Amino acid sequence: SNYETIITSVEDGIALIQLNRPRVLNAINRPMVTELLDAFEGFDRNDEVKAIVLTGNQRAFAAGADIDEMKEDDSVSLELLNQFKEWDRLATIKKPIIGAVNGYCFGGGFELALCADILFAAENAQFGFPEIKLGVMPGAGGTVKLTKLMGQKKALEWLWLGDPMTADEALQYGVINRVIAPELVLEEAKKYARIVASRAPLSTRLIKETVYKSIDYSTYEGMQFERKNFYLLFSSQDQKEGMKAFVEKRPAEFKGK
Ligand code: HXC
Repeated sequence: SNYETIITSVEDGIALIQLNRPRVLNAINRPMVTELLDAFEGFDRNDEVKAIVLTGNQRAFAAGADIDEMKEDDSVSLELLNQFKEWDRLATIKKPIIGAVNGYCFGGGFELALCADILFAAENAQFGFPEIKLGVMPGAGGTVKLTKLMGQKKALEWLWLGDPMTADEALQYGVINRVIAPELVLEEAKKYARIVASRAPLSTRLIKETVYKSIDYSTYEGMQFERKNFYLLFSSQDQKEGMKAFVEKRPAEFKGK
């Protein structure tokens, strides 16, 4: 790949995006956000790709946004920069994103990890929002997402302390999906991605869309939205194939159409 801050590849229908600024524990600078967006949107358009795995290295997923880059910012420069436009576009990726976290996962790094649909973490992973120790607070959804995941009391407790939580704590609070031995995290994430990739792709994306809508919708609105997507899938070839294969007692061959 032609990127400077990330490394990308595709194997067996699974795309891999690896954060690659190891000297600064994968601190996320603005070029990295731009490159991440380019990679995610490219893979989302690429028919060969069925799922995307996002990872860092053994020492760090990412230790936060790049503090060197931010330290002289002011409110007006940040407003004019409008960097969160790119973070917002991350939320429009339709394919499944599986995050594999080793080591530090702090601040903007934690927020990036929370952009993954499924999160696997190493036993030694550490998650936290240390922004409070820098005189700021999360800015890319951390406050909001942590509250929705763990509830307001727990979220406030962690956000006010700014100290790291262990992978086991993150699991207990519903922030991540699985805790895995450090050397196996990426493999397990890829394995999970391959299973999801074998399911009906249109179902995968409409389920993702419906789950996220249900966070903001009322139960009634959510169920109306679900029903439309359920009906929509009956226009797909894969619905015919999936049900025919069941009747014929053979594995379905999904085309994503
Ligand atoms: C820039 C960083 C960095 C960061 C680490 N480094 N985190 N550089 N931005 N967020 C750099 C260090 O300066 C150092 O560079 C090198 O990476 C190795 O880090 P050390 O501190 O020497 O490693 P260690 O002692 O193991 O400590 C690890 C650590 C610590 C506990 C993770 O680095 C740390 O506290 N980092 C900052 C964490 C943080 O505050 N994150 C939130 C950022 S604010 P040199 O050149 O000295 O070797 C944020 C807001 C998001 O994310 C807003 C929305 C996007």
